[in-house]
Amino acid sequence: MGREREEISPQAVAEQLALCERLRARLTAEGRQPLALVDTYGCQQNEADSEHLRGFLKQMGFAFTQDEFEADVIVVNTCAVREHAEQRVLGNVGALTHTKAKKPGQIVAVCGCMVQQPHMADKIRKSYRMVDLVFGPHELWRFPELLERAMEGRGRVFAADPFDGAVAEGLPVSRDGGVRAWLSVMYGCNNFCSYCVVPYVRGRERSRRPEDVLAEARRLLADGAKDITLLGQNVNSYGRDLGLNMDFSGLLRELNALPGDFRLRFMTSHPKDATERLFETMASCEKCAHHLHLPVQAGSDRVLRAMNRGYDAAGYLEKVELLRKYIPDIVLTTDIIVGFPGETEEEFEDTLRLVEKVRYDAMFTFIYSKREGTPAAKMPDPVSREEKQRRFDRLLETSNRISAEKHAAYVGQTLRVLVDGPGSGDYPLAARTDGGRLVHLRGSEENIGRFVKARITSGNTWALFGEVTDG
Ligand code: 5AD
Ligand code: SF4
Repeated sequence: MGREREEISPQAVAEQLALCERLRARLTAEGRQPLALVDTYGCQQNEADSEHLRGFLKQMGFAFTQDEFEADVIVVNTCAVREHAEQRVLGNVGALTHTKAKKPGQIVAVCGCMVQQPHMADKIRKSYRMVDLVFGPHELWRFPELLERAMEGRGRVFAADPFDGAVAEGLPVSRDGGVRAWLSVMYGCNNFCSYCVVPYVRGRERSRRPEDVLAEARRLLADGAKDITLLGQNVNSYGRDLGLNMDFSGLLRELNALPGDFRLRFMTSHPKDATERLFETMASCEKCAHHLHLPVQAGSDRVLRAMNRGYDAAGYLEKVELLRKYIPDIVLTTDIIVGFPGETEEEFEDTLRLVEKVRYDAMFTFIYSKREGTPAAKMPDPVSREEKQRRFDRLLETSNRISAEKHAAYVGQTLRVLVDGPGSGDYPLAARTDGGRLVHLRGSEENIGRFVKARITSGNTWALFGEVTDG
């Protein structure tokens, strides 16, 4: 592997910020308003990264647009988890040849996980000539410097070398101002699940210092955040690399003690590291949402072993049982991969059986996607795409039925929900329950951004419906 973990010094970050000011003076000369478009694919971590990209761009004087013909700078923040996302990115980036032809001088940057894979960076180098700048997730902290080099026009800029990963504090951030906010607590992953590309592109696990996490949480709360999602590929291993007396439960307790009326949730938790101490902490911290995303991936022990997940179905079910003892009303969600190489019909049915036992409130289901360089890519994969699709459809049917049953059980209840935005049609408000379920609400728009009481009147597979009772 390439370079090792590195903490980016405050001076190095300050230099990037100073460069933003110099670029601002240049870009906004003669009253010009430069425009940027940031397009984000993939997970919440990427959304959080894009908030930093926008933060930098704002400091450089950019305003934002959704129109690619109008943008002076286009940044595409990519995902590598499945092939489908990569194909969408390549299709959309390819189409930018037309916009560039109409807007000479436009800069196209492609960043994020997809381009951290050497074969993808090569592909862009050779076949996507309209791209001026390529940089991986580890280089985000020096985006101003890279953008300046690309704008100088002396050649294309590539910065996506292998790296275990950086931790940079004090990057600017531009949020949409809503009541929901992301807060990264750690980066990278050490688990090397056999199907997953993340450890190769996001590097080794590294935690932010607790004081930095707490300071950012205070800023978010001062800025109006009321529902904070702590982010990390595996938050349960938070702190292991810091050598401090602080684990994820400890961090949760400290965040819970911050003043204010807000909720804390987090993702993702790896089942092998989800402990009784975590469940106990969630139960005793009143600001911790009663929601846990606990990806099981498969219900067959052989498949779980081949996936290198570090638990078996019985062990997973025991944890769920323990969690429900601590928090009986926990909302449980999960990720499942269908059609892992060599998965048999019987093994797929083990997954269905596990799902029927756990009865998840919602599931994110995926058909296995082969990722170059991962161990699973070399495993024999004889099952046809059509068969995998049939399994996927069966799983989805099961999941939809259970979600609808779970949502039906809310009817008649009055719950505290956070109204996080406008809705549409008969339901002018969109809200979330403590467990993170979407509620389409009737009520006044003045409630946006507030916690309110809502009576649930109906539910379907995807959402609840109700009315505000106290606002
Ligand atoms: N194919 C399909 N799904 C995948 N995931 C990760 N890698 C792959 C892959 N190669 C899914 C897992 C993970 C979620 C974020 O994406 O279920 O939990
Ligand atoms: Fe990928 Fe497994 Fe790490 Fe999650 S825990 S990012 S699935 S390797």
